[in-house]
Parts: sequence; C-alpha cells; structure tokens
Amino acid sequence: MSKTLVQEQFGKTAASYLTSKPHALGKSLERLVTLTAPQADWRVLDVATGGGHVAYAFAPHVGRVWATDITQEMLDQVKAEAAKRGLANVRTAYAKAEALPFEDETFDLVTCRIAPHHFDSIPAFLAEVHRVLKRGGLFALVDNVVPEGSVGDYINAFERFRDPSHLRAWTMAEWRAALKAAGLAVGHEEQIDKTMEFGPWAARHDATMLRLLRSMLTEVTPAVQAALEPKTDGDNVTFRLCEGLFIAKRA
Ligand SMILES: C[S@@+](CC[C@H](N)C(=O)[O-])C[C@H]1O[C@@H](n2cnc3c(N)ncnc32)[C@H](O)[C@@H]1O
Repeated sequence: MSKTLVQEQFGKTAASYLTSKPHALGKSLERLVTLTAPQADWRVLDVATGGGHVAYAFAPHVGRVWATDITQEMLDQVKAEAAKRGLANVRTAYAKAEALPFEDETFDLVTCRIAPHHFDSIPAFLAEVHRVLKRGGLFALVDNVVPEGSVGDYINAFERFRDPSHLRAWTMAEWRAALKAAGLAVGHEEQIDKTMEFGPWAARHDATMLRLLRSMLTEVTPAVQAALEPKTDGDNVTFRLCEGLFIAKRA
C-alpha cells in the first residue's frame, strides 16, 4: 500500500520527535497529567502518539496505555523507548484517528496532543473519541491553535509550507464548537504559548527553503509579527506558537 503524505513526512522524521524539545518537554505534558488526575485502574488511549511523550507521561499513573499512530516508524520507536524506560504497561497499535480499532466505551481517558491539525476530518475523529470513551470518561486534547481571520490563515500557510502534511490548526472557538457538537462537555480550557527555535523546526529543509521560511517569518505585517513574535539573536531565530488545551467529559 502506498504511504500517505502524513506517513511519508513523519516516517522520514520520526527520530526527531523523540528528542524534539516542544514535544518531549512542552509544558502541556505536565498540565495534561495534573488536570486529568489519572487513576491506577484507568485504560488510556493516546491518539497520534508520535514520539510517545503523552504515553510515557501517563503510564506510571494508570493501568494501561495504548499508544497509537498511523506511522509505523513512530510505533516501532515508541515500543523500543517504552521498553527502555521500563514502562511495561504501554502497548502500541496502528490506529487512524478517524477510524479507531477499539470497541465502544473502552477507555477512561483519550488523549491527543499536537496532532489534529494533520487529520483529514476532526469531526470524524471526535465522533470516534466519543464512541470509545466510557460514560463519564475524559478527553484531553492539545493542539496548536491560531488567531481568528487572516493572521491565523497566514500562520497555517507558514506551517504548511514547512510541512505539507499540516492541514489546518483551528481556533479556540472552532474547538469549543466541535467538542460541544460531538457531545464532549468542556470542563477546562487554556492556552499555552511556546517558543519555537527556527533552526530545529526547519532543519529538514535545504538552504533555499530555509531562506524562504525565514523570510516568511520575518518579512510580515505588524499583525502577524505580533502573533508570531519573531526574534533574531545572531544566528539564533525564535518565534511563538500557541497550544490550546481542552479537558472534556463524555456524558
Ligand atoms: C507531531 S506528531 C504527535 C506528537 C505527539 N502526540 C506528542 O505529544 O509528542 C503527529 C503524529 O500524528 C500522526 N498522525 C497524523 N495524522 C494521523 C491520523 N489521521 N491518525 C492517526 N495518527 C495521525 C503522525 O503519524 C504523527 O506521528
């Protein structure tokens, strides 16, 4: 079977997601654990696990974590890393977010972090989250979010130019509406800014692309500049992205 754009992009860069700072050390990881108060008998599903950081964060607190993804290179890496960390309750499985291979009402908690902006259909994903959650179960979501309007459109275009598998990061308002429509009642939401280092973020590209990406970051309107806050210190360029975090309950 031929690989999808997502599988191609993430297959090539899988190793970098294990060590990437925003993924391995991002503040949203500890916030997810604090806000969901995981219990020792919980069954947890992590959708689009990537380097597996959410699975590793929850595994010491719960009974079982299923770390799932559609990119085999990610799953192989998570299996090896979980074993290295002595996390015997982590299992890996191929699972597309929009068609989860689990029975109805299986999980106490479903997590998904920094991934839905790659999904073909977020509404189909949320319907699946609702289906596999037990009644009263929690959905803990983190994804990059953008401001409303043309500034958000620009940030999505910038991200998609670096990684064509980036489809669209939503606004906080879009998430609120979609969670409600899926029958997932939001009990908590917050936004977390993160500082991105341009070098590692763009590292997969050649010199021409690096120049173009850098100009897309620095030669911008005041409104985009205020959102992305590009800063240059010698060769070191940073900018700001924002994560939206939601904790929602299935009735
Ligand atoms: C940035 S990584 C995820 C990061 C990870 N959750 C973390 O917190 O460090 C995005 C992942 O989404 C996966 N992915 C993209 N589309 C998917 C889909 N439709 N279903 C399942 N996984 C998907 C990719 O294979 C990739 O591993």
